[in-house]
Amino acid sequence: MSCGVKKWTFQDRIVAPSLLAADFGRVGGETSRAINAGADWMHLDVMDGHFVDNISFGPAVIQAVHETNDIFLDVHLMITRPDHFLPRFIAAGADLITVHVEPEADHDVAATLKSIRDANCKAGLALNPATPFDAVLPYLDDIDLLLVMTVVPGFGGQSFMSEVMPKIEAGVKYRSENKLGYHIEVDGGIGSETAAIASAAGANVFVAGSSTFGAPDMSAAVLAIREA
Ligand code: DX5
Ligand code: ZN
Repeated sequence: MSCGVKKWTFQDRIVAPSLLAADFGRVGGETSRAINAGADWMHLDVMDGHFVDNISFGPAVIQAVHETNDIFLDVHLMITRPDHFLPRFIAAGADLITVHVEPEADHDVAATLKSIRDANCKAGLALNPATPFDAVLPYLDDIDLLLVMTVVPGFGGQSFMSEVMPKIEAGVKYRSENKLGYHIEVDGGIGSETAAIASAAGANVFVAGSSTFGAPDMSAAVLAIREA
């Protein structure tokens, strides 16, 4: 099972609507709606009720999206023991799998990132607002994407936390000093205004749930984020 081919670089601006804000009764149709609205990736928020205080969906929903639509699947695992569940998300059709660096995720981060890449998937590493940038330093040479959370994970519709922008800047600095190519993704409270702030700091992948699926005109919302 090989994940999505590498088509994008960090110079690309990528808009990734989050399924968490969609109608769960119609995940296939909602994903098609996002594609028609110009989405580049689909962001899939997996929550286990342990790592975050919410439960969303698992591999079966990712498989349903994968089987009904052709779009790059950006899977965000807000779960403990992501290493244990990796094979199921890979089999379900994930193209990029992001795991959290916090100790509460209870896994060997380096080993998990290696397993993701060994499966020919793209590997992402996420850090929460309270987690210092130094926590991800040991792993930056081995990732395809750095996810700087701009809300405390667990729920859509929260407010953007601009205090985490220095972590994006630090990610850009490390990447250029070390000639690396990882994307920098922001996730939480992203709309056209906050996407402009995050873009100025150096982010290139914009996850947006309520501001896209909740918009009267999803295409206009996606375009406004892309052009922010
Ligand atoms: C929060 C999730 C985010 C969330 C974004 O834990 O990781 O992806 O769905 O939702 P909005 O864009 O509504 O803040
Ligand atoms: Zn997310």
